[in-house]
Amino acid sequence: MARKLMLGTGLVLSALGIVILGTTASAQVKQGKTRPAETKYLMRGIVQPNCAGLGKLLKASGPADEKAWDTAACHAACLNEVGHLLMADGRCPDGKWAGASKTLQSESAAVLEACKKQDLKAASAAFKKMTQSCAACHKAHKK
Ligand code: HEC
Repeated sequence: MARKLMLGTGLVLSALGIVILGTTASAQVKQGKTRPAETKYLMRGIVQPNCAGLGKLLKASGPADEKAWDTAACHAACLNEVGHLLMADGRCPDGKWAGASKTLQSESAAVLEACKKQDLKAASAAFKKMTQSCAACHKAHKK
């Protein structure tokens, strides 16, 4: 009898735990724990413009001059910072998110390095790998 009661209480508690964990995880995805910037604003305000700007510059024959290469490097550097921001303030809910952020960090760093050397082939290859991180995280976490 006591065992049955304990089992019942245990089940109720785990169900409650799942509900609580579930809500925190989705709250984290949309926003970090203490800072006000919502994930969608990091995406719209920083990720999207820098990713689009970089993609445009790396098209065809690549950045036309010193200044354009420096702008491409600037986009890559900003994207790299977002890779770190996405892991900060308790925003990361799981391994998929962490893995995608890690890819964003490492591949944007590779783009940055290639831009400093004005190596279009290496920059484009790393850019392509970097954008796979967008798809990987969105598939798991973007509603
Ligand atoms: C680690 C996870 C993660 C990575 C990596 C990521 N995103 Fe997102 N992105 C999200 C989530 C979560 C949302 C949905 C946010 C919401 O609606 O609350 C989102 C939403 C967006 C949006 C819509 C923003 C809006 O205005 O509502 C755009 C655009 C976007 N991402 C672009 C990108 C691009 C481009 C990349 C790659 C360079 C990228 N994201 C990488 C998690 C990620």
